[in-house]
Amino acid sequence: MEPTSGTALTGRDRLAEDVRRGLGRRQKQLQPRHLYDALGSQLFEAICELPEYRITRAERRLLAAHAAAIGGGLASPVTLVELGGGNGEKLVLLIEPLVRRLPDLRVALVDVSATALDLATRTLGRFPGLGVTGHQATYEDGLRRVAHGRSGDDTMMVAFLGSNIGNLDPSAARTFLGTLRSALRAGDRLVLGADLVKPEAELVLAYDDPLGVTAAFNKNLLGRLNRELGANFDLDQFAHRAVWNATASRVEMHLESLCAQTVSIPGADCRVRFAQGESIWTESSYKYETEEIAALAAAGGFTRRDQWVEPESRFAVTAFDAT
Ligand code: AVI
Repeated sequence: MEPTSGTALTGRDRLAEDVRRGLGRRQKQLQPRHLYDALGSQLFEAICELPEYRITRAERRLLAAHAAAIGGGLASPVTLVELGGGNGEKLVLLIEPLVRRLPDLRVALVDVSATALDLATRTLGRFPGLGVTGHQATYEDGLRRVAHGRSGDDTMMVAFLGSNIGNLDPSAARTFLGTLRSALRAGDRLVLGADLVKPEAELVLAYDDPLGVTAAFNKNLLGRLNRELGANFDLDQFAHRAVWNATASRVEMHLESLCAQTVSIPGADCRVRFAQGESIWTESSYKYETEEIAALAAAGGFTRRDQWVEPESRFAVTAFDAT
């Protein structure tokens, strides 16, 4: 199914195209963005509550302690843009000190998930009078849309939190940050949350929790292909695996086929053969050292203002200026 030239792919066509392409590769692969249908987004919310997954709580602690400094020096009018923000709770921490100082603060939410946008919009309802717009779009498209509509004199602060940067490989992360920078003006700000390297056992437990929530999150991707593309994946014949790849500094999530099997995916117009033990690679979560984060953003055209590290869970929030 090729897109008609000049027309954008619909969500379902995009999924079908990614599935056909990804499952046709030697190392079968599915794009992590497809993990976030309505159910996947709710499962991710549950992951954030797991004792073993410490990213969300560590980042919240940093934002609660340093929100005023993160947004310090920004002059009204300010548009705060959150890329892929989930339920909006972290945004609340950033907004609280700003809204007192900047009464005409506006917020733009960008997420591919309609469920996440709904959740975040509802959360921000606690600030009466705050202008909130939602953009169901990729980060790049959404930010471009927001930047296009900005007024002459406003300043933008872009929050890219939750270690979402870690789901891009480092070269894609540099390109992505460069794309963000090109949508911004000098004087705008970027707030980046990124998870740091830590002992392997801690990392694997965070991505393979004893309750099986992350396994459900990963396997839901196959359920999604069954629901949306009429595929016949037997979820019991696949196992969730989380592996620390020290050389690449990333946790990889895979779905491993427990037997030799063939799966039909009519909506993607393909049949896919799996050998026993063969896997679909569904996500990478790169882990950084503090100075690597600054270097990554510097390559994209940002200058580090300040960095705060949560020492227990080893997580960093870094504020950058677009220069
Ligand atoms: C959204 N993202 C930063 C999460 C992560 O840690 O890579 C997604 C996730 N995958 C498994 N658990 C959480």
